[in-house]
This record gives sequence, structure tokens and C-alpha cells, in this order.
Amino acid sequence: MVILGAGPAGLVLANLLHTRGIDCVVLERADRHHVQTRARAGFLAANTVRILDRHGLSDGLRRRGHTHHTCEFRTDDGRFRLDYSGLGDGEQHTVYPQQDLVTDLLTHFLAAGGRIRFETEAVAILDADGDGPSVSVRTADGRPGRWRARYVAGCDGRHGAARRSLPDTAVRRYHRDHRVTWLGLLAEAPPSLDAVGYAVHERGFAGHMARTAEVTRYYLQCERGTPADSWSEARIWDELDLRMRAKEYGPLRRGRIVQRGIVDLESDVLEPLRHGALFLAGDAASLISPSAAKGANLAVLEAELLAQALTDDLVHGDPTGLDGYSARCLPRIWRAQEFSHWMIGLLHGSPGPDDDVPYLNGLQRSRMTALRTSRSQQDWFAERYVGV
Ligand code: APR
Repeated sequence: MVILGAGPAGLVLANLLHTRGIDCVVLERADRHHVQTRARAGFLAANTVRILDRHGLSDGLRRRGHTHHTCEFRTDDGRFRLDYSGLGDGEQHTVYPQQDLVTDLLTHFLAAGGRIRFETEAVAILDADGDGPSVSVRTADGRPGRWRARYVAGCDGRHGAARRSLPDTAVRRYHRDHRVTWLGLLAEAPPSLDAVGYAVHERGFAGHMARTAEVTRYYLQCERGTPADSWSEARIWDELDLRMRAKEYGPLRRGRIVQRGIVDLESDVLEPLRHGALFLAGDAASLISPSAAKGANLAVLEAELLAQALTDDLVHGDPTGLDGYSARCLPRIWRAQEFSHWMIGLLHGSPGPDDDVPYLNGLQRSRMTALRTSRSQQDWFAERYVGV
């Protein structure tokens, strides 16, 4: 078994297969340091924590993560809070930086004798629909190589070889460009709120998400095509203050911006998630905008489903799980897509110069009002926000 990519999807899958005695190797393009320090998501849904608990992979997050259950929305009409642990299914998030989870998964896998080849980039998957699939690779020193396997798991993200190797005729890609762009920022500053902060402002969206006691993630909506380094730190903090309405609700705790990047909000789903011996999981299977923090949670869920299906086939000779893998994942993926799409509509005025912008902005305000005032809408939100 060859697994492409050492992100949450690839590493959960690798740990589960290794524990069940299935021979597998993980091929990862980046070096170990890069994989362990790449800051990305950080909100784990309750179900994700249950999966990691179930397989003995949650020690780190149980020790160092902290639970989180409140959102604060700030708009022209004032601010309101939702404590979602008391709404819907009563579940909460665990905040644990993704690079820490990846480090834990990697350490666990290697300690158990698992094999990873870092700085080994998969170039193409060959003969996925034939009898002997293989993965052609290139190592850091430019040497080509080839790995043969019974099955290949494409967990190599949105720009990986798995997606590239799929013939157009084998999958259908559903794609949506939400025409919204965020400047994603990591600040060396303690969180300013004990809640996720979502600010809707005529100048654009601003978001606040805790990561650790010393580090906070912020987002600022910006024009499409804005270079990530074009805003000075002073301008970033002034704009965050303005959109988060610091004058009314208290100042933000400023600090050095240690990382920044542009996020064009885009989503897609590939159907089906299987092509012969190649299976897709995580971002390789579907891209989801970060508006509702679903990406890493879907990745872990799919990895568990794929691990079970592969075990049934390789250990018990029962291929039905593999045949049904795509059909089991896709409703969950579409459900997350639908909620994430709804969140984008909740948090942004309509982009672009279209004539229907005022109308769409009216819908956005109405959506926010319903969330502020209707208990059933709040229950629905809580269930979808924290569930996968
Ligand atoms: N060959 C080998 N490895 C590759 C290749 C390749 N051609 N291309 C990419 N990779 C590696 C990347 O370096 C990365 O380590 O695959 C890994 C993919 O990891 P992620 O992008 O984290 O994807 P995934 O495991 O699906 O996790 C999904 O977490 O933070 C969220 O938004 C993020 O939704 C994403 C999620």
C-alpha cells in the first residue's frame, strides 16, 4: 500500500493500517521539519476527537488542546454570542494547531515502526485501473524512482499527483469559485476574545480564531489579486480594529505578524473518490473553503472510513467496503460543502459589480438576523458548525 502525503488524511490512514499489520509506506514531498511546522487549521470537531481517541491517537490533543464552544458575531446591528455547547447536539471543538496534530501522528507512526519517505515527490500514478498500479517519484536530489503497490491512497492535497493523474473521463469535478479572497494572518499575539470572532463590515469580513495562548489567527477580506505582502503591519491592525469594531467592543491585542498568505475561497468535489486502485481522501478528494473549518475534520473522517475498507479487503478478503467507499464519503462531503457555502453567504456581502448585489446583501442581513433571534436556527447552526 502506498500513501501519498503526510497531512492529517495520510497520517491517520497510515497509523490505522500499520496497527492492523498492513504493509504501507508514506511518500511525502516536503521534509520533516516543513511538515511539522506548517501552520494551517486548528479546530477539531467532537467527532474527529472521538475518531482519534478510538485509535489511541489523541494523547497530545487531550493534554495540550483546549475546548472551545463560543462564536461572537459583530455587525452594524451590534454583537451577539452563540454558545454552541448548549445548542443543537451540545458538542464543542477542541482547538489544537494542525501542525501539532501532524507531529503527534508522525511520531506515533514512526515509533511503531512505520515507514515514511520525506522529500519524495509523487510525479504520477500509473496504471491505476490496471493490474499493477505504481507511483513514479522524484527525490530531493532529482533521482527518479518507482513504487509498486496493490492500492494507492491519494492524500496529497489539492495540488498533488493523485488529482493530476486522474483521466478527465474518470471523474467529474464540481467546482465553485466564491469570488471572495482573504488575507490569512498568524499573529504572535494572545487571543483577544474567548470566542471565534466573525465581523461583518462594509469594508469586508474580518475573523479572529484562537490557536494557542500566544498565537492567534486573523483573516481580512481583501480584493482578489492583492499580494500578501502589500499591507503593512500597522495597516493590518488598524483594519482589524475597524472591522472588529475595537472602539465599541475593546481593543485587539497586537503582536508581530509571523505568517501571511492569500486564500481565494474555492470549493470543489471530485466524484467518485475511486479510480481503479487509486482512492482519494482529504483535500485531494474535495476542497472546502476554510469558512467553517471543515477541511481537516473531513480528512480524518475519510481516512478512518478508507482504513476500515482497506482492512476488510486486505485482511478479510471482503472488497465491498472499498466498492462503497465513495458512496459513504460523498454525502458527508456535500453536507460540509453546503454548510460552508452557507457560512460564506453569512459572513460576506456579495462580491462583484452585479446588479443583484443589494438584493444579495439583504439576504445576508436577514440570514444574520435569523441566527441572532431564532432558537431553531441557532440549534441548526450549532449542529452543522461543529458536526461533520
Ligand atoms: N507527492 C508527495 N506528497 C505530496 C505531493 C506529491 N506530489 N503533493 C503534496 N504532497 C504532500 C504535502 O506536502 C502535504 O504534506 O501531501 C500532504 C497533503 O496534506 P494536506 O494538504 O494537509 O492535506 P490533507 O491531509 O488532505 O488535510 C486536509 O487540513 O488544514 C486543512 O485546509 C486543510 O483541508 C486541509 C486539511
